[in-house]
Amino acid sequence: MSVHKKIPKKVTTHVLQKMKNDGEKISMLTAYDYSMARIIGDAGVDIILVGDSASNVMAGYETTLPITLDDMIYHASSVVRAVRLAGTRPLVVGDLPFGTYQGNTRKALRSAIRMMKEAGAHAVKLEGGKEVEDSISRILTAGVPVMGHLGLIPQSIFKFGTYTVRAKEDAEAEKLLEDALLLEKIGCFAIVLEKIPALLAKKVAETVKIPIIGIGAGPHVDGQVLVTHDMLGITKDFHPRFLRRYLNLYDDIKGAVNQYIADVKSGDFPNEKEQY
Ligand code: KIV
Repeated sequence: MSVHKKIPKKVTTHVLQKMKNDGEKISMLTAYDYSMARIIGDAGVDIILVGDSASNVMAGYETTLPITLDDMIYHASSVVRAVRLAGTRPLVVGDLPFGTYQGNTRKALRSAIRMMKEAGAHAVKLEGGKEVEDSISRILTAGVPVMGHLGLIPQSIFKFGTYTVRAKEDAEAEKLLEDALLLEKIGCFAIVLEKIPALLAKKVAETVKIPIIGIGAGPHVDGQVLVTHDMLGITKDFHPRFLRRYLNLYDDIKGAVNQYIADVKSGDFPNEKEQY
């Protein structure tokens, strides 16, 4: 009998491309800390995104704009440690936060290198198309894989004014398709499409050859991503149509904490077996 532990095949950008070519859907979830990354890595997710949604979910800011590169590196390094120590398969993608890559290719390259070197991420993600072409191209010169992000791009919330569905009008839909083709041409390995009509997402996924990961972009794409805290029901006041809640952990955790408080107050905890 073999005593060797089975080593899972690591997900790389090449594996993701093969998954698209073979018609195998890609699963992606967010994590910002060691414990959550252990669970979702052990469960077998393909990609862990250390999203700048940490700004909302972890830090309680209203938008994703305030989170810093230092914050993101802290979160990403915790996630990378979980994947490394447990030997799990996911590709870890670190979001570059607002202000760390736009309009300055040198700064973009420095930010991406910090994410790779200090956090140990396997790739970076950043938002936008033509406007950030030069930054993406410069990052790619360092051999850092880049995931694009089009459609609803939360770092530009003050430009658009709302978080409603993007690219419903022809002009915006055409620009989105052009941007997707551009991101593919310059060398992105995948693109996230957020909150756009399902038929447009289908067209993009059929037109570009790299994997398209959707969130609120319908089923005809190459993979799906959700914010883990939303799909587990840890966050409570966020109910977009695209969100499927698999658990209601907010209520479960609150109930457990209520019980703990009651047990402490009544003297029921700790009991005889729970002491030395
Ligand atoms: O920051 C994030 O979590 C994201 C996903 C919603 C795609 O960008």
